[in-house]
Amino acid sequence: MADGFAGRDLISIRDVTRRDVEEVLGLAEEMSKRTRLDIAYDKLATLFFFEPSTRTRLSFEAAMYRLGGHCLSIHDVRSTSLEKGESLSDTFKILDSYGDVLLIRHSDPNVVRLAAEVADNPVINAGAGRDEHPTQALIDAYIIRRSLGRLDGLTFCILGDLKYSRAARSLLLLLDKFKAKVYLVSPPELEMDASLIAGIENAPVKKGALSDVIGEIDVLYVTRVQKERFPTPEEYEAVKGSYKITLDSLRGCKADMIVIHPLPRVDELGKDVDSTPHARYFQQAALGISLRMALLALTLGLDARIG
Ligand code: CP
Repeated sequence: MADGFAGRDLISIRDVTRRDVEEVLGLAEEMSKRTRLDIAYDKLATLFFFEPSTRTRLSFEAAMYRLGGHCLSIHDVRSTSLEKGESLSDTFKILDSYGDVLLIRHSDPNVVRLAAEVADNPVINAGAGRDEHPTQALIDAYIIRRSLGRLDGLTFCILGDLKYSRAARSLLLLLDKFKAKVYLVSPPELEMDASLIAGIENAPVKKGALSDVIGEIDVLYVTRVQKERFPTPEEYEAVKGSYKITLDSLRGCKADMIVIHPLPRVDELGKDVDSTPHARYFQQAALGISLRMALLALTLGLDARIG
């Protein structure tokens, strides 16, 4: 696979090389020093979010504005002509013709792929069902490298709803590009797909209990139970509240271990963790703007050299 983001879709973290990760993280660090650039003054990002979002949509919009560009943003499907029976394919063709990059969030990963097939401009997956959330994984990598100085040689615990969390899946795929060791901790009903784990080539992956690995890990990645993905309310009710990370859960951890979370959180991560030096999830969300500035600049082929 060739390196580089320019003019390319980002549908899966599989589309990204290790060198790409390093490039976007390096540029994000530069972007974090600037609140405003004018390199995208003639560029338009079109966002169509079929599912709710706080961080992804608003940080992409903020990133585009900070690059000097503009956004067209749809977050209520009822306000579009899909309601009149227009096809998704025609809708994406039109949106593609209006802007320079298309950002799509949908519950069905095939819809995000359809947008990529139809559009001539790059399409970025802003969250595809339970499948993938590649830009979240890049943000995760950014906060890890910012906090611990590297991505290689670290031990991770990815905890929670690993069946339905697209963010957890993308993170595991990203870690496979580095020298990582990964523990997966989840209720039995919410384990990660065996097929995804079987495809991991470099990162040794083991299942376990947090209490057994807490002294060994460098990063604890917590995810909420993804209520909106469960086939029935009864299946959600059966696992709701089945795990919660509190200050007590961190007893025996390394002094510099970090706790990260893609957010939103519900009840799986206690507020008593917020005031500890381990908590990095709010900083992680804030870094989303710099990371997405870098990603948009690279995807749009902008001259991102900062004087
Ligand atoms: N982490 C994340 O995707 O958050 P939002 O759903 O608020 O965009």
